[in-house]
Amino acid sequence: MTPKDDRRIKVGVLGCGPIAQAAHFESAAKARNAELHAICDVAEDLLERMAWTHKPAKTYTSYDAMLADPALDAVIVATSDAFHVPASIAALEAGKHVLCEKPVGVSVGEVEALKRVVVKSGRHFQIGHMKRFDAGLQSAKNFIANEMGELLALKAWYCDSTHRYAMTDAVQPLMVRSAKAKRPTGDPKADLESYYMLAHGSHLLDTARYFGGEIVEVDARLRQRFGAWCWFVDVAFANGAFGHLDLTVAVRMDWHEGFQIYGENGSIIGKTYNPWYYKSSEVDIFHESTGATTRILGADGHFYRRQLEGFAEIVLNGAPMTGADIDDGVACMRAMAAVALSVRSGKAVRLADVSADT
Ligand SMILES: NC(=O)c1ccc[n+]([C@@H]2O[C@H](COP(=O)([O-])OP(=O)(O)OC[C@H]3O[C@@H](n4cnc5c(N)ncnc54)[C@H](O)[C@@H]3O)[C@@H](O)[C@H]2O)c1
Repeated sequence: MTPKDDRRIKVGVLGCGPIAQAAHFESAAKARNAELHAICDVAEDLLERMAWTHKPAKTYTSYDAMLADPALDAVIVATSDAFHVPASIAALEAGKHVLCEKPVGVSVGEVEALKRVVVKSGRHFQIGHMKRFDAGLQSAKNFIANEMGELLALKAWYCDSTHRYAMTDAVQPLMVRSAKAKRPTGDPKADLESYYMLAHGSHLLDTARYFGGEIVEVDARLRQRFGAWCWFVDVAFANGAFGHLDLTVAVRMDWHEGFQIYGENGSIIGKTYNPWYYKSSEVDIFHESTGATTRILGADGHFYRRQLEGFAEIVLNGAPMTGADIDDGVACMRAMAAVALSVRSGKAVRLADVSADT
């Protein structure tokens, strides 16, 4: 394991649920420039189990009490989606930096309200779009920035698999759950169109924006068959490039996620693995100048730890933000709302026309 740096941020994780157990506790323990200072959950049984395993310096059943801890530098918000915005606002107003799980929120209006608090607080705010810390995606991003020239078109797909739990159960730790866990009112899965878009579509739209830049308009269709949901979305990027996005939950095959990018001086084909394999994407970059393809191999695939290290670099040393910031969060939220509006109206929808109460 990489030795710890002398200067580290003290992190508190809000929520001891599956994402904290599978990603954030270990990331904080392994990150060279962060440490797991505190964990918080209203469910005492879960808190106790996780404290025993991960040995934070402090445990809290009250979020307010954790935020009042002067030693705490930053909070990882690892709760269900509906609590992301209120929990982030509370942390920012308590003077803490925030790394918040995706999707940043559940409506355009609340995410815009969060943006106002981020700006006012002067604290750092990053969204847990950890794919931006996948070394394969980063190699594509570098090529786009430095060599590719103009973008002609981008296709990206995110297709969950009917076999995902058979695969992920084999590699994830056994999840500990509690009947005392705090849940949002109402069942988020009661509206699957919204739930799938927030849970999975947010990743797809963030990846599309990471590579293609601002999205100005979407034209989306949604078809449901045999319990599967399939969105095909035509995307107009601000730079004039075409985009096509495919979100399917779930395909009757292996996890299927990736992208294809056509540029002036080369093209990219990427295959992304289910995150729980901690394997960086296989990204083939064809360079028009040499007629050769390059692919990075053997990269460190712990994108959850890498995103925390990137976040800590910003807090400690003022490094530039390479993750998704609050503006990315607002844009992603608008894009998801625009897709829903387009599906309903059968027409293309401009993101600028999405109202804050969507
Ligand atoms: N980036 C990824 O790859 C990825 C993967 C899976 C899940 N996620 C995201 O992670 C988030 C959390 O997912 P989960 O399945 O772990 O959620 P969960 O609801 O099962 O667990 C959240 C925990 O937070 C606790 N909690 C919530 N509000 C609290 C409060 N105010 N005070 C104290 N405790 C509180 C709950 O008691 C619960 O134990 C979701 O938004 C999901 O979209 C991201």
